[in-house]
Amino acid sequence: MSPPPLLDVKDLTIALRTSRGIRRAVDGISFTIGQGAILGLAGESGSGKTLTALSILGLLPMGARTSGSIRFDGRELLGLKRGELREVRGKQVALVSQDPATALHPLLRIDVQMTEHVRAHLGFTKEQAQQRAIEMLNAVRIPDPETALYAYPHQFSGGMRQRIAIAMALACEPRLLIADEPTTALDVTVQAGILQLLDRLRRERGVSVLIITHDLGVLSSVSDRICVLYGGRVAEYGVTPVVLGSPRHPYTQGLMRSLPGASETGVAMMPIQGAPPSLDAMPSGCAFHPRCEWAQESCRTIVPTLRNLPDGRQLACDVDPLKEGASAPEVLGTASAGPALPAHAGDPSPVGQT
Ligand SMILES: Nc1ncnc2c1ncn2[C@@H]1O[C@H](COP(=O)(O)OP(=O)(O)OP(=O)(O)O)[C@@H](O)[C@H]1O
Ligand code: SF4
Ligand SMILES: [Mg+2]
Repeated sequence: MSPPPLLDVKDLTIALRTSRGIRRAVDGISFTIGQGAILGLAGESGSGKTLTALSILGLLPMGARTSGSIRFDGRELLGLKRGELREVRGKQVALVSQDPATALHPLLRIDVQMTEHVRAHLGFTKEQAQQRAIEMLNAVRIPDPETALYAYPHQFSGGMRQRIAIAMALACEPRLLIADEPTTALDVTVQAGILQLLDRLRRERGVSVLIITHDLGVLSSVSDRICVLYGGRVAEYGVTPVVLGSPRHPYTQGLMRSLPGASETGVAMMPIQGAPPSLDAMPSGCAFHPRCEWAQESCRTIVPTLRNLPDGRQLACDVDPLKEGASAPEVLGTASAGPALPAHAGDPSPVGQT
């Protein structure tokens, strides 16, 4: 029997108040992360990635309403009191935030930022905390960590600052690291270094990682499994080689076709037409239908159910244009032959109490 997952998110729903009322930004998503595993949460802007991460740490915006379950090491996190959550946050689960500006205080030296964090969570002495900080800077390959510790954030490059933010998050030896777009602002070489670092942390320290990105290329090299979100719902979820090797959801196919290297694999690079929906104008039925070249009339009204497929993945597309078992490149190359509906934004659909 396989051990229970470290993180088990079930049917998570997050509703927020917008100027037009209460809207579901995350709508019934489920995924798990095992010990030492890396899960990639993918999707375009506004798909609910960051809110999902913040809900695990109890850091959602004021007034957000949640339902479902987030179990960490068997303990339910949804509904925990602030004090109880503080024990989990930083020490058990650490976040490298999407906004690098919030990760490091520009006016404080690195030693102050790192040691305060460690002392607050682990009760270390100043000397022990400094030792731990040096160890972590070394782990993320910051050159000359003893000197780097006494520098200010502006004295480092963007890539080094990102690695220092990861070192800070790791200093309390969390069991789960949540990295929200950790490589987005970085050049390709630095990006590769960060991804190698995450992989090393999982192998050497058994850290589990939730990595959030809109870039499937990043996930192909580092994640064990991928959960693709669209409009706050799971579109496709499964092990990385299965999902990226033969994407079954038209949205995942579109993301693959949008990758800069797509043309090298014999598939014309083609961004998904249209823009992701806003919370106040979420299309009815399958939220992807205004942009989907395979959409049928029923897609406008019926929300697709997430089905388990024999290859182990989960798919939320009732049309399933790949069901004949064609390989991804063949289908991607001919997808434009699929039937198309004129694009339109559906009616906003308010939700009830959560
Ligand atoms: N405090 C808030 N109040 C109202 N709506 C919000 C709030 N925070 C997020 N949203 C909305 O919830 C949806 C999901 O937001 P989220 O930040 O999780 O997206 P994301 O997938 O992380 O996007 P990005 O790739 O741009 O970071 C978006 O439509 C966003 O506008
Ligand atoms: S075919 Fe229909 S259900 Fe499938 S992704 Fe397209 S719009 Fe959604
Ligand atoms: Mg985000």
